[in-house]
Amino acid sequence: MEPKKPIYLDYHATTPVDPRVLEAMLPYFTEVFGNPASKNHTYGNDAFKAVEDSRETLAKAIKARPQEIVFTSGATESINLAIKGTALANRHRGKHFITVATEHKAVLDCFEWLMANGFETTILPVDSEGLLDPAQVADAIRPDTLLVSVMAANNEIGVIQPLEEIGKICRARSVYFMTDATQALGKIPLDVQRLNVDLLAASGHKVYGPKGVGFLYVRRSNPRVALDPIIHGGGHEKGLRSGTLATPNIVGLAKAVDISIKEMVKEQKRLGELRDQLMHALLAAIPDAKVNGSLNHRLAGNLNITFPGVESEALMIALRSAIAVSSGSACTTAAVLPSHVLKAIGLSDAQSHSAIRFGLGRFTEPKDIPFIQALITQHITRLRQLSQT
Ligand SMILES: Cc1ncc(COP(=O)(O)O)c(C=O)c1O
Repeated sequence: MEPKKPIYLDYHATTPVDPRVLEAMLPYFTEVFGNPASKNHTYGNDAFKAVEDSRETLAKAIKARPQEIVFTSGATESINLAIKGTALANRHRGKHFITVATEHKAVLDCFEWLMANGFETTILPVDSEGLLDPAQVADAIRPDTLLVSVMAANNEIGVIQPLEEIGKICRARSVYFMTDATQALGKIPLDVQRLNVDLLAASGHKVYGPKGVGFLYVRRSNPRVALDPIIHGGGHEKGLRSGTLATPNIVGLAKAVDISIKEMVKEQKRLGELRDQLMHALLAAIPDAKVNGSLNHRLAGNLNITFPGVESEALMIALRSAIAVSSGSACTTAAVLPSHVLKAIGLSDAQSHSAIRFGLGRFTEPKDIPFIQALITQHITRLRQLSQT
């Protein structure tokens, strides 16, 4: 018999492909394999139709228009295109960019690139809950500001930023507003009209779709975002992202987003209840444990807790055969550095090194919760005893 796999609680790092998504994708590997750009025969036309249907589904999901969706290889590429692309296309108009300290490295590293290339940046702080104060955005905007980038939901602490207020400010000041919605899409409603979002980055593998595919929403009117490509070639995606489109992945991405949105209300309620159950049980068993990040503005499936005096690396090794969790962000390098997100909300290095991120998702079952709570409590007690001897 195969050994039992650990319970997966790392849904922020990635998600398995939903079987319904896989089923939708399969014909596009073999039967409908044409190049969507080969419009002079049926093979190409059928693939083209699948891509355009997917584009429409994704546009509807965020209240955009199909021609505003650009397919990419994932959120990292979408973010690079959005930030570097606006910088390159608008440098005659300004040189200042604004973002937040808790953003994903994909955004923060693009800001490093901006600085290395003659642009100026402002990185705004967050409060102890992980929230950005919209008034700080208003204060930071300068006459030469081109873009404000604020993530919709954080990948470590699940905190949801006040996009609507920030969007209003950006629109009133004629500054592009971008959001990294990688963790938020399919989990909270995202309406680019209501939020005044001009650029939105998302990824397939966080919503039970395949890895290696994502999209960037680029507003085409009121205002029309001027964007230069960063990948050059055959001129696909209206010249914004050259390269043959990955039809199976695109079909999978659209199916995954469609399912997540249709099931959103019910599923997020279920996950919120499971998360709260786990949180209350852990806090009752380990009274000095502390939840990191706002509880009121938070993704339902996220729990990030500091267990004082316990190294999260040691705890993760102890749990490895039974539970798959993460400390800090799985998206950065293998180096064990304190999480920049936890530092930004005021945690010390020691508190950051004692934090565990629990990511609950579609295949988390109610029966998992008491098991996880008991196991964690047991290992924390043991590790604390060890450190005292
Ligand atoms: C908030 C956020 N932004 C961007 C990314 C990068 O996404 P991708 O893996 O699709 O490049 C991630 C992935 O971990 C993320 O969580």
